[in-house]
Amino acid sequence: MQYDLQNRKVLVTGGARGIGRLLALGAAHRGARVAIWDIDAAAAERVSREIHRTGAAAEAFGVDVADRTAVKAAAQSTGEIDVLINNAGVVTGKKLLEAQEDEIERTFQVNVHSLYWVTRAFLGGMVERGHGTVVTVASAAGLVGVARQTDYSASKFAAFGFAESLRAELAKDSTGVNSLVVCPSYTSTGMFDGVRTRFPLLLPILRPETVAKRALDCIERGESQLVMPRLARTIPVARAMPVRIFDRTMNFFGVNTSMDGFRGRATRPADRAEQPDGLTKELK
Ligand SMILES: NC(=O)c1ccc[n+]([C@@H]2O[C@H](COP(=O)([O-])OP(=O)(O)OC[C@H]3O[C@@H](n4cnc5c(N)ncnc54)[C@H](O)[C@@H]3O)[C@@H](O)[C@H]2O)c1
Repeated sequence: MQYDLQNRKVLVTGGARGIGRLLALGAAHRGARVAIWDIDAAAAERVSREIHRTGAAAEAFGVDVADRTAVKAAAQSTGEIDVLINNAGVVTGKKLLEAQEDEIERTFQVNVHSLYWVTRAFLGGMVERGHGTVVTVASAAGLVGVARQTDYSASKFAAFGFAESLRAELAKDSTGVNSLVVCPSYTSTGMFDGVRTRFPLLLPILRPETVAKRALDCIERGESQLVMPRLARTIPVARAMPVRIFDRTMNFFGVNTSMDGFRGRATRPADRAEQPDGLTKELK
């Protein structure tokens, strides 16, 4: 079912940078009023100003999506939402024995628990009005486990399961509300700086502009799942193989060496805040 973003109100969590910022800019460019939630209130405000400069409407809120009380308060201030994009996420990129306990907990609080707090704050209104979309930004790491991602990959498997169960629940009750799960592989936002791909043609490091545009297209087309790149769509099929062969196949494609050079965002504190010319056009 077509769900044009024109005149919709769209909330993007983690909308201050990376894919979230581009989702916010792109949604605004397609005629939506945008609310940006981010733990970095100043950066969220900068994106809001970027959107204002294009003549569209936007509001920024400093919110930690892992904090249930903060989410409830921010939801009150934000008001009704037509499209909720659960995008905020974090990664540690450490081996199981090297990660701190609080880092592991934080991964689940931000990448998983927040899905419940934020979605519960807005879903009732969508169901009452008989329309809306809940987008869960999971990951290709929600389809396959990856060395140095025991916390991150597990959190994204959970996000995938959340979105799929929600889709079933919403359809069963004929609510008119859609659940879309977005599973990109590595994307050049800074979050996964240092990762590498063995076959760049088959498994390229994605551009965040491409991911954001495809996700916005999927919302507008009422689709339920976006897995990028195309080769990643074969992962569930590959699971029909014996585990030993599956593991060898993933090793062959370099999945388990991809994180060897991981540095993450720590190496890139100053993000691209400015909007390159023609960016919003690309997101349309
Ligand atoms: N970059 C990738 O390679 C990649 C690949 C697949 C999936 N993803 C997923 O896409 C989403 C966006 O990733 P990105 O690469 O744009 O990341 P990013 O680090 O560029 O941006 C994430 C944003 O989320 C915000 N954030 C973090 N914790 C928060 C919290 N507790 N409350 C509110 N905001 C918070 C950050 O301040 C930041 O603005 C994440 O869920 C990520 O897991 C990323």
